[in-house]
Amino acid sequence: MVNALQVSELTLPGPVSPSQATAAPPAKPCVISCEVGPAYRQALLDLFARSSPDTRRSRFHQALSVFPQRYLDEILTGRQPALVARDTCQEENHGKVFGLASATPAALGTAEFAVWIDDAWQGHGVGTLLVRGILRLLAEQGTHTAIGIMEPDNLAIRRLVGRIAPGAAARFEDGMIVVSVPLPDWAAAQSAGS
Ligand SMILES: CC(C)(COP(=O)(O)OP(=O)(O)OC[C@H]1O[C@@H](n2cnc3c(N)ncnc32)[C@H](O)[C@@H]1OP(=O)(O)O)[C@@H](O)C(=O)NCCC(=O)NCCS
Repeated sequence: MVNALQVSELTLPGPVSPSQATAAPPAKPCVISCEVGPAYRQALLDLFARSSPDTRRSRFHQALSVFPQRYLDEILTGRQPALVARDTCQEENHGKVFGLASATPAALGTAEFAVWIDDAWQGHGVGTLLVRGILRLLAEQGTHTAIGIMEPDNLAIRRLVGRIAPGAAARFEDGMIVVSVPLPDWAAAQSAGS
């Protein structure tokens, strides 16, 4: 089974319509992150198809109309570590993924992470789950520094990174904000806090 590694989970019922807003969240964890494998190809293509132009542009820093083939191949084959978010509670979400975090190996000991959440699921904590998961995975694999490149007006990712990696250094480069997370320090702080 390709998605055997469950790295984290949170209790989250998923997006609800206003008429369902008072429904109690399920008692068991619903949203989990799993390592990506070949079985996720169609679910990832579907995630891309459901994503708005704004979300695609924020993730890829350009308006793409198709999932970049090389990137897809690299995450499906494990050449780039990657995690997806799945909902394990609601039957209608079976087989779907609604978030992807991945990391491109860069210079020795460094990897560039990126994350992207289905529009309907943004603002529910899934990005936080996936970024924590990919940083943890990189730290376990011995990566020393995780780099994130974000547009200055992308407040959601800036807040997310500022909250889960407050020790990250940030600099401006070519109109973008580049954050560097020192992973041994980050992992030690996570262990101390848990
Ligand atoms: C950025 C992104 C990954 C965040 O994931 P998410 O699941 O929506 O984020 P979370 O729910 O975990 O919350 C992260 C923070 O951003 C805030 N947030 C979420 N959506 C927001 C929005 N549209 N505008 C402003 N803030 C937002 C949350 O309130 C939270 O802030 P807090 O910690 O101060 O409460 C997601 O919005 C996304 O996929 N955006 C498009 C692609 C992208 O920008 N990728 C990052 C490029 S590296």
